[in-house]
Amino acid sequence: FVVQHTLIKSWKLASSGSCTMGRLDGKVIVLSAAAQGIGRAAAVAFAKEGAQVTATDINGEKLKELDNIPGITTKVVDVTNKDQVVALAKEHDSIDVLFNVAGFVHHGSILDCEEVDWDFTMNVNVRSMYLMCRAFLPKMLEKKSGNIINMASVASSIKGVVNRCVYSTSKAAVIGLTKSIAADFIEKGIRCNCVCPGTVDTPSLRGRIQAQPNPEQAYKDFMARQKTGRMCSAEEVAHLCVYLASDESAYVTGTEHVIDGGWSL
Ligand SMILES: NC(=O)c1ccc[n+]([C@@H]2O[C@H](COP(=O)([O-])OP(=O)(O)OC[C@H]3O[C@@H](n4cnc5c(N)ncnc54)[C@H](O)[C@@H]3O)[C@@H](O)[C@H]2O)c1
Repeated sequence: FVVQHTLIKSWKLASSGSCTMGRLDGKVIVLSAAAQGIGRAAAVAFAKEGAQVTATDINGEKLKELDNIPGITTKVVDVTNKDQVVALAKEHDSIDVLFNVAGFVHHGSILDCEEVDWDFTMNVNVRSMYLMCRAFLPKMLEKKSGNIINMASVASSIKGVVNRCVYSTSKAAVIGLTKSIAADFIEKGIRCNCVCPGTVDTPSLRGRIQAQPNPEQAYKDFMARQKTGRMCSAEEVAHLCVYLASDESAYVTGTEHVIDGGWSL
């Protein structure tokens, strides 16, 4: 149903005369966390480049905002729920690109991180990617071609960041998962890369700033670590994702793509 729906939307776009050659023409892309931030910007950018996008998120209300964009089909999916992930994969006869975006930022050092925080973060940030990759990889192996992109961060094995203990641990695991999948399946036509942003101006980042005891100071602290004098935009990360999703990056696998305005220099 999902695939048919996106095909109809693509046909409508083509027949409206507004279709030009795109960098992702004909590619079927499934992504998580598409309701806001980087995931949303990526879903829009993928569709603009001609992909048939299944945009998923746990937040159905916000996800609806993407419903009228040609090339995008939305579906409410909790990526920590195995049954929902397996059902999502079943709905796709074929997939070209899987983009695992969902992630949660816990604020604090190891001493601030209770077991429940640890388990929640590892579940959303790592186990979800394990579930999604396990569900979609067999479909990629069937046609000996597939491309997985995972959302990591420079706050990981790349850079030690204050008050990002379990978050950085989880994102280091994402880098490990990425390299492992790339190594295991390179000869089967599968590639797998990850994206490592620095500070990206997204609704959740704004929320984290507001949640601090002194939001004004928290904003200043975030800005003080921006060597370029500004934060990254979600659209800038989406540009990198379009490259990784396209055949332009066909020789690229097992790599972490840092986009941090020099923060990790
Ligand atoms: N914003 C940044 O500065 C930054 C920097 C580096 C990496 N990242 C990573 O990029 C990704 C996206 O971050 P963002 O700030 O753009 O997004 P965000 O935090 O603004 O939005 C996250 C989205 O994920 C969805 N989501 C949460 N739990 C989910 C679940 N269980 N199943 C499905 N969807 C779920 C939310 O509903 C939300 O729409 C995350 O993995 C984050 O760790 C963000």
